[in-house]
Amino acid sequence: MDTRYLFRRGDVWWVKIAVPPTLRCELGYDLRRSLHTSDLEEARIARDVIVPELRDEIAAARERHDRRYRAEATPSPFQVTRREDFSDVTFLLEIHHPRLAQAAEPGQFVLVLSHGHGERVPLTIADFDRDGGTVTVVVQAVGKTTREMRQHCQAGAELYAVVGPLGRPADFRGATKVVCVGGGLGVAPVYPQARALKERGAYVIGVVGFRSRELVFWEDKFRSACDELIICTDDGSAGIKGLVTLGLEQAIAAHDDVDRVIAIGPPVMMRACAEATRPHGIRTVVSLNPIMVDGTGMCGGCRVRVGDETRFACVDGPEFDGHRVDFADLMSRQRRFVAEEKQALDVWSRTHMGATAT
Ligand SMILES: Cc1cc2nc3c(=O)[nH]c(=O)nc-3n(C[C@H](O)[C@H](O)[C@H](O)COP(=O)(O)OP(=O)(O)OC[C@H]3O[C@@H](n4cnc5c(N)ncnc54)[C@H](O)[C@@H]3O)c2cc1C
Ligand code: FES
Repeated sequence: MDTRYLFRRGDVWWVKIAVPPTLRCELGYDLRRSLHTSDLEEARIARDVIVPELRDEIAAARERHDRRYRAEATPSPFQVTRREDFSDVTFLLEIHHPRLAQAAEPGQFVLVLSHGHGERVPLTIADFDRDGGTVTVVVQAVGKTTREMRQHCQAGAELYAVVGPLGRPADFRGATKVVCVGGGLGVAPVYPQARALKERGAYVIGVVGFRSRELVFWEDKFRSACDELIICTDDGSAGIKGLVTLGLEQAIAAHDDVDRVIAIGPPVMMRACAEATRPHGIRTVVSLNPIMVDGTGMCGGCRVRVGDETRFACVDGPEFDGHRVDFADLMSRQRRFVAEEKQALDVWSRTHMGATAT
C-alpha cells in the first residue's frame, strides 16, 4: 500500500512534503495540505495531484532564495551603488540593501548613519527595486549631517548603517482618484505612492513643485506613474507659475470626484494643502517629519499632536490625517535645537570647509 507523503490525523488524511533546510525559514519545516477524506484510495489520488504542486511551490521559493542570495553576495551590505545630483543641495543615493528592498513599502522611511561617529538621519524611501536589491533616497543638504553626506556619499562609498523599513506603509484602501502632491523634499517620497496607486488601478494626478525649471527632476518617472501631471514652479519657467496648492486647486476644480489627496513636503506646504482640501471634505494624508532619534517608538522625540491625541510619528506614522494634525506644534518642535544645529554646522564647516556656515 503506497502511503508516501501521506499521514493521518484523526480520521482525515493529509499530504506532507519535507522542505529543504535552506528554505525552511521561508516555508517552514514541511508543506502540508488536508485532503478532507478518510478514504485511503481517494487520498492517494489527491496526493498525486498535490505533491507536484507543493514541489512547484518549493521550486519558486528556491528561485526567490537564490535571487536574494545572489544580490546579497556583493561585498558591502550598505554600498552606495549610484548617486545623482539634482541641484547643488539635492542628491539621490541608491543603496544596496536587498533585504530592505524586499520589505520596503511606499510611505516608509529608513535611518541612515553614514559613518560610525555620525548622526542618524531619517530619510523617506523614494524608490525601491526588489530584483536589483536597492533602495533609493533623495536628500536635501540642510545641516551638518546632510551636508557631510553630500560631500562623502559618492558612488562606491559604504554607509555605516541603514535601518528600516520603519514606519507604517501608506494605506491606499478606498482611494480611487488621488492627487499626489510633492513639494521640495516631498517630490521624491510621493513618487512611490503615485506608482503604487496606479498599479492598484487608481486614477492618479501628480502635482509637483520646484523653484525653477533647472531643479525639476523625475518628470519622466512621474509621467509614467500618473494619468495627469501638473508641474508648478515659483518663477513659471516650467509648468504653471505658483505653489503646489495652485496645482492642487486646479486638479480639484477639474475633477469633482477626487477622494484622496496625499501631500508630502515642508510642514507649511502640507498645512496649506490640508486647508485647500478641508472645504471639499477630501481625505488628506500628510507625511510628518518631526525630529527623530531612535525611530522605534522608545525616545518620544518624534511626538506629534493629531486631533486630541499624542502620536509618535516613527511608529504610528509618519502618515496622518492632515485635517487633524497640529502643524504649529510640529513646527515649533522642529525648531527646538536650532542653536545646537547651527553650532554643529559651524564647527563642521570650519574643520572641513574652512568657512563658517551662514
Ligand atoms: C520620517 C522622516 C522622513 C524624512 N525624509 C527626508 C527625505 O527623504 N529627504 C531629506 O532630505 N530629509 C528628510 N527628512 C528630514 C531629515 O531627516 C533632516 O533634514 C535631517 O535629519 C537634517 O539633519 P542635518 O544634521 O543635516 O541638519 P540639522 O542642522 O541637524 O537640522 C536641520 C533641520 O532638520 C530637522 N532635523 C534635524 N535632525 C533631525 C532628525 N534626527 N530627524 C528629523 N529631522 C531632523 C530639524 O527640523 C532641523 O531644524 C525626513 C525626516 C523625517 C522625520
Ligand atoms: S523617534 Fe523616538 S519615539 Fe519616534
